Amino acid sequence: MRNINEDTITQAVLASMDDRCNPRLRTIFTSLVQHLHSFARDVKLTEDEWFKAIQFLTECGHITDDKRQEFILLSDTLGLSMLVMAQNNKKPAECTEATVFGPFYVEGAPEYENGADIANGARGEPCFVSGQIRGLDGTPLAGAQIDVWQSDEDGFYDVQKSSDDAGASEPQARGRLRSDRDGRFHFRSILAEAYPIPHDGPVGRMLEALGRHPWRPAHLHFLIKVPGYETLITHVFRDGDQYLDSDAVFGVRSNLITQWVKHESGVAPDGSKMETPFYSLEYDFVLNPAEVTA
Ligand code: BEZ
Ligand code: FE
Repeated sequence: MRNINEDTITQAVLASMDDRCNPRLRTIFTSLVQHLHSFARDVKLTEDEWFKAIQFLTECGHITDDKRQEFILLSDTLGLSMLVMAQNNKKPAECTEATVFGPFYVEGAPEYENGADIANGARGEPCFVSGQIRGLDGTPLAGAQIDVWQSDEDGFYDVQKSSDDAGASEPQARGRLRSDRDGRFHFRSILAEAYPIPHDGPVGRMLEALGRHPWRPAHLHFLIKVPGYETLITHVFRDGDQYLDSDAVFGVRSNLITQWVKHESGVAPDGSKMETPFYSLEYDFVLNPAEVTA
């Protein structure tokens, strides 16, 4: 293989793959090489631009550690995460839609009884959350495993706090609950606020250069597991949030938006007496039965 030129390079790379390699890997790399080469031809990529792209990816690698995943942020902000999620989570229209997972989920969150305060000291206005988990046919799903996590009033998740911050060593505003025998769940937490995704790294600079903001509309994250049903990873968004139509990671679906109702001081949904204003929201989740494989 010699004298390869601009016109023959794509075919030469494709032909270099061993016929015996994994067929799926071959499909993926064939398409990747074709698209990469087409892209470079299309924009007539200069050597300087190519080198800047290499530097950008190198910086993404350098800033990535066990708490910060810049490549996922890159995928999220380029819409790739939402695309991959959407094409792998097709379900009937009556089911609750899935959306991006995000980088702030933590395995092994504390387990709570229904009615507990999962804020565990996180700062924010009180918010009471309730709902029901049902199957597509309307059956209430008892014992659903419900993981919830959210940001505080400053727009930070507990895992983003430095070890000097109050309560930083404890999980805050996250937890695991189980739906009761009627498929219902309820808990107390704090009002989630809109927040910017981490933007002090290469992805933040990319957004700025493209004239984009890093903000996400206020939301609660849910991960719901019930045996015999597809696992649901989704959010519940706050109606009226100013970023609903410009989410930095393209994750908003209309039917995931609900009213977060403000109440003046008085009796809360759990019967407790609140001396300050508080919020409540209710959202029901509908799960798709898992495909039975023979
Ligand atoms: C989140 O909602 O937690 C999130 C999603 C994508 C990127 C950054 C944060
Ligand atoms: Fe989030």
